[in-house]
Amino acid sequence: MVAKAAPLYEGIGRYYARHRRPDPRIAKQIRDALGDARSIVDVGAGTGSYEPDDKVVVAVEPSPVMASQRAVDAPGVVRAVAESLPFPDDSFDAAMAVLTIHHWTDVFGGLREMARVADRLLVLTFDPVVHSKFWMFTDYLPEVNMLDLSQVPSPDAVAEVIGARGVETVDIPSDCIDGFNVAYWRRPEQYLDPEVRACMSGLAMLPADLVATRMDRLRADIEDGTWHARHEELLSMGSFDGGLRLVVR
Ligand SMILES: C[S@@+](CC[C@H](N)C(=O)[O-])C[C@H]1O[C@@H](n2cnc3c(N)ncnc32)[C@H](O)[C@@H]1O
Repeated sequence: MVAKAAPLYEGIGRYYARHRRPDPRIAKQIRDALGDARSIVDVGAGTGSYEPDDKVVVAVEPSPVMASQRAVDAPGVVRAVAESLPFPDDSFDAAMAVLTIHHWTDVFGGLREMARVADRLLVLTFDPVVHSKFWMFTDYLPEVNMLDLSQVPSPDAVAEVIGARGVETVDIPSDCIDGFNVAYWRRPEQYLDPEVRACMSGLAMLPADLVATRMDRLRADIEDGTWHARHEELLSMGSFDGGLRLVVR
């Protein structure tokens, strides 16, 4: 199981801490959902984004490159995968998984593991149908929609498996500082930076020459005003539904 997870982030995780910083508005939504839980396991923890600093947190992360970018005072890391959590039943008040389940080999197996070790569960994921309609994927890189990681289960399916009380939309602010795939919905020029793209698994998994060619087209569309004319409605929006969903039990 580690085999699928680790090599991807060993390769693309190098600049993660620089461009994937926790966005305070998304952090608040996550915090509110964690409520009064005192002990938390963060599954697929990466560099530790969104881990509350006033709780007891254990991080689970298979990639050494990701784990090595955690702050020196960040909670300790257990090198393991979601599908086989090395903890007894009911070890934690809550388990959280943030923007990670689309990388898991067995999503439902991992979710069942989270439910085994904690009562309260929080999964930040994306709705693949809404996500696939983002302008980057419809106009420039439709290949992203064909990748395995775009075949993530719907938030409703995640909710059903974990017995969640509901699915919340997480709007993406126009100045979002967590550089995931859809973060720069109103700042297209950001996608022209290869280092920014390297932190987005969807884009980082495609052949570099293909992406470079399409980004040349995006650059031309920005420079001659085509992009702005095509997406005028986005320019006055303060936040955007790019498919991010919070599933909470
Ligand atoms: C996009 S990063 C998200 C990291 C962090 N949660 C955040 O919000 O910044 C996805 C993380 O999932 C980890 N991962 C991949 N497969 C995994 C698995 N089967 N079990 C647990 N974590 C996994 C990757 O190594 C990576 O650190």
